[in-house]
Amino acid sequence: MLSKKMEKALNKQVNAEFYAAYLYLAISADFSRKSLNGMADWYHKQAQEEVEHAMKFYNHIQERQGVVILEPIAAVPSEWATPMSAFKAALVHEQKVTGMINALMDIAVGEKDYASQSFLKWFIDEQVEEESEATANIDRLTMLGGKDGKSISGGSLYQLDKLMGKRSGE
Ligand SMILES: [Fe+2]
Ligand SMILES: [Fe+2]
Repeated sequence: MLSKKMEKALNKQVNAEFYAAYLYLAISADFSRKSLNGMADWYHKQAQEEVEHAMKFYNHIQERQGVVILEPIAAVPSEWATPMSAFKAALVHEQKVTGMINALMDIAVGEKDYASQSFLKWFIDEQVEEESEATANIDRLTMLGGKDGKSISGGSLYQLDKLMGKRSGE
């Protein structure tokens, strides 16, 4: 059985994961409109992963006889001025999620909720990967187009778009 405190925090996480899916879908739509189809594809896959994350939390709440509470999902922007601004928005959200997962683990440890600790371990590892991938996108764009990515040539942007389109659907 989950404590009320843990149940509330887990529900908040369900919302944050769906928010991430919204954010990545919006980024994907924006890239798609600009014919950056590889980048659009990358964020589309990322959005699907976030829905899977949300469902893992949903299932954990259910399996522990908690109550799933689906709060409204906050609106996300529909346009980013540059690819770099979209990449950075993604990293900022991943960093926020990492902080939330760490806070969930703190609650689980404090309450000696071993089942939640075991469940959260996967997310602790996953966030290392998520932040590293979000940072790699920024690094590649910086390499090709400077700090804000704005001096990227058309040819390099095309190559980066192609590379990001090769992301597997793991
Ligand atoms: Fe996630
Ligand atoms: Fe994520």
